[in-house]
Amino acid sequence: MSHDHDDTSLADLIDLDGDVLHAYWADAMGYVRRAADGDQRRRIVDLGAGTGVGTVRLAHRFAGAEVIAVDASAEMLRRVRAKALDQGLADRVTTLHADLDEDWPVPGPVDLTWASLSLHHLTDPDRVLRDVHAVTRPGGLIAVAEFPVQLRFLGDEAGAALETRLLELVGRHQAERLPELGSDWPARLTAAGFTLLDERTFDLDLAPAPPAAADYAALWFGRVARHADDLAPADAAALAALLDGDGPGSLRRRELRIRGARTVTLARR
Ligand SMILES: C[S@@+](CC[C@H](N)C(=O)[O-])C[C@H]1O[C@@H](n2cnc3c(N)ncnc32)[C@H](O)[C@@H]1O
Repeated sequence: MSHDHDDTSLADLIDLDGDVLHAYWADAMGYVRRAADGDQRRRIVDLGAGTGVGTVRLAHRFAGAEVIAVDASAEMLRRVRAKALDQGLADRVTTLHADLDEDWPVPGPVDLTWASLSLHHLTDPDRVLRDVHAVTRPGGLIAVAEFPVQLRFLGDEAGAALETRLLELVGRHQAERLPELGSDWPARLTAAGFTLLDERTFDLDLAPAPPAAADYAALWFGRVARHADDLAPADAAALAALLDGDGPGSLRRRELRIRGARTVTLARR
């Protein structure tokens, strides 16, 4: 299976997620760091690392640890290496180009695995979780971050109603393409042999949203627009207006408010 098509736009989206939601990222990493307090964390895996938003934060939080970013996309890993170099972390951040739907790629022992928004992309996440468990040092941790609800950008009443209809469309496509989305990750961690420690939902509400939110929203709605043929004509036109550069109804001209949530589940071997 190729994971390289479309990677540039996804990579931009991931980088903007780290930028726009930086407070969430800081809180989530602080939460994981506190869970690991007192333990020695030498080898950390960022599973489905994307562009390394989590990878470099882990490297900063866990001084001295080696952080291995695993991803099936060469473009994502190129960005991980660039970030690591830029932030003086190149000696501790390594990248591993691997398709997790194939054989497990990371030799043990592993002290901490961070899997953010990646497990739901896998064909058989249970097998991968069992593989993570097998390489995790006794007492080692896994942290799974997923989203219980989609992000929303449009704060006004008409915009919010349009966004609800667009998200229904997105939900239908995701149900086909990503059947593992919204799964019961605590139950699956337990089934893989882990002991649940804690779970925290981080509510997101940025009003007004920071300036980069318009770029984030434009990329996100641009991806939604690929399915515009499935929309009612009025909604397709409204979506096109949102994406119309600097046009009167465009994202850049609107006051955006980001709402959503991320849930982080912590478990120990
Ligand atoms: C939504 S992104 C999340 C990136 C990052 N963890 C974050 O939260 O910013 C999902 C990532 O999983 C990777 N991925 C999807 N399927 C994969 C597979 N079978 N093996 C390895 N990586 C995969 C994608 O290339 C992508 O970088």
